[in-house]
Amino acid sequence: MQTNSAKALWIQVIRSAFFAFVGTGRLSPSPGAAGRADAGTKGAGKLMKDFIFKMPTRVIFGVGAAARLHEVCRSFGAKKVFVVSDKIIGATEEFKKLLAALEKNGMPFEVYTDTLPEPPAPTVDAAAAALKASGCDMVAAVGGGSPIDTAKAIAMLATNPGGIGEYLFGGSRTVENPPLPVVAIPTTAGSGSEVTGASVIEDVEKHVKLSVTHDSLIPRVAIVDPLMHRSMPGPVTAATGMDALTHAIEAYTSLNANPMSDALARQTIRLVGENIRAAFSNPADLEARGNMALASLLGAASFVNGGLGAVHGISQSMGGVAHVSHGVGNALLLPHVMERNCVGNLKKFADIAGLLGEKTEGLPLREAAELSVKAVRSLNRDLQIPPSLREVGVAREMFPAILKGTMAYRMLAINPCVLTERDVSAILEAAY
Ligand SMILES: NC(=O)c1ccc[n+]([C@@H]2O[C@H](COP(=O)([O-])OP(=O)(O)OC[C@H]3O[C@@H](n4cnc5c(N)ncnc54)[C@H](O)[C@@H]3O)[C@@H](O)[C@H]2O)c1
Ligand SMILES: [Fe+2]
Repeated sequence: MQTNSAKALWIQVIRSAFFAFVGTGRLSPSPGAAGRADAGTKGAGKLMKDFIFKMPTRVIFGVGAAARLHEVCRSFGAKKVFVVSDKIIGATEEFKKLLAALEKNGMPFEVYTDTLPEPPAPTVDAAAAALKASGCDMVAAVGGGSPIDTAKAIAMLATNPGGIGEYLFGGSRTVENPPLPVVAIPTTAGSGSEVTGASVIEDVEKHVKLSVTHDSLIPRVAIVDPLMHRSMPGPVTAATGMDALTHAIEAYTSLNANPMSDALARQTIRLVGENIRAAFSNPADLEARGNMALASLLGAASFVNGGLGAVHGISQSMGGVAHVSHGVGNALLLPHVMERNCVGNLKKFADIAGLLGEKTEGLPLREAAELSVKAVRSLNRDLQIPPSLREVGVAREMFPAILKGTMAYRMLAINPCVLTERDVSAILEAAY
């Protein structure tokens, strides 16, 4: 007969395995009990956790590294690469240089720039048709989260039947065949999509943003080149950088955090705190750009393993209902959600305050934890993030739809506090 402690250990092993696959559509748990199995034992040092850590993407990091795209394509035996981007990035000097390097090195390619930000499903299906017609056998994504997510989706649709709508969360199909290999070259420092298995797409009929999430969607290679980030305008730098910070704060305080995701999250928070103002103020500051690119990568590796929480739950729902951009929505909501979540893990929120440069020594834990909210508010102010939901086009009448989407978000189960509909409504009111 199993003892209670043996049972508890098994629950934990199963839970860790489940959440390590937060990402694989099939294996992800439904929001609920699994996420809270050890709610009473979370926190530093109370119980050594079992965990699984995954980070299968090969990362090539360096100034000028994007010029090595042909080498990566050759390493996969590619005959022709489908380069997916968007119109704005397609017009940048760095993008033109990247294509020139492919040409010079004899790597055949086709360029596709008809993607849209926060990709709507029909644009993904159109891009998939273009990929199939191109005869390409590899996909290179050059852009922020939107082109990278589009590229991941179409690489999967090239080898699996049907349209993207059928694969989104709750849909009728699952990924069966391995997608074409994807190499991602991020041009924003935020989404971290270059190392995640998620592709976030808008279902335009239902007005919801959903994801297809599967380990096979994780890009095989990420080429992270700070030079590709210099053309990013200030508002995009601010919004995407705050997305990276949100990933790290949510992963660090999640009930599913583990020692490895914690290490990455802490480094991400510190890097964003020290570099985002400089990257925002001086786009050419390559040191700040490089550190933000690194933060984006580490923050994503952290949340792939540790999970996310209520900020992403609300903001993803809001993205479908009110078309608020992902980074702006997260930045705006982050201090409000932290204010509510603080009490769920005072120690970790106090750590966040310290990592963001606040003086916490000698303070009672509650006060130290509150400083994390103050630090994020100060970042938002300096980065000129819009201060209220009203200013980004959210109307009170949209609250019920946003609330419904938020409560259905599967990672709400690992938010550091249980949040009821009333709590989420109060957060929306406070942010309004
Ligand atoms: N797959 C994941 O794991 C994951 C994680 C977080 C967010 N997302 C998704 O990613 C999307 C947001 O991605 P994002 O925040 O990186 O922004 P984005 O890709 O939507 O780009 C935002 C804008 O910035 C422009 N831009 C990007 N890089 C530029 C550059 N270097 N120079 C000039 N302009 C540039 C783009 O053209 C676009 O107009 C959302 O749909 C979000 O839901 C996905
Ligand atoms: Fe995000």
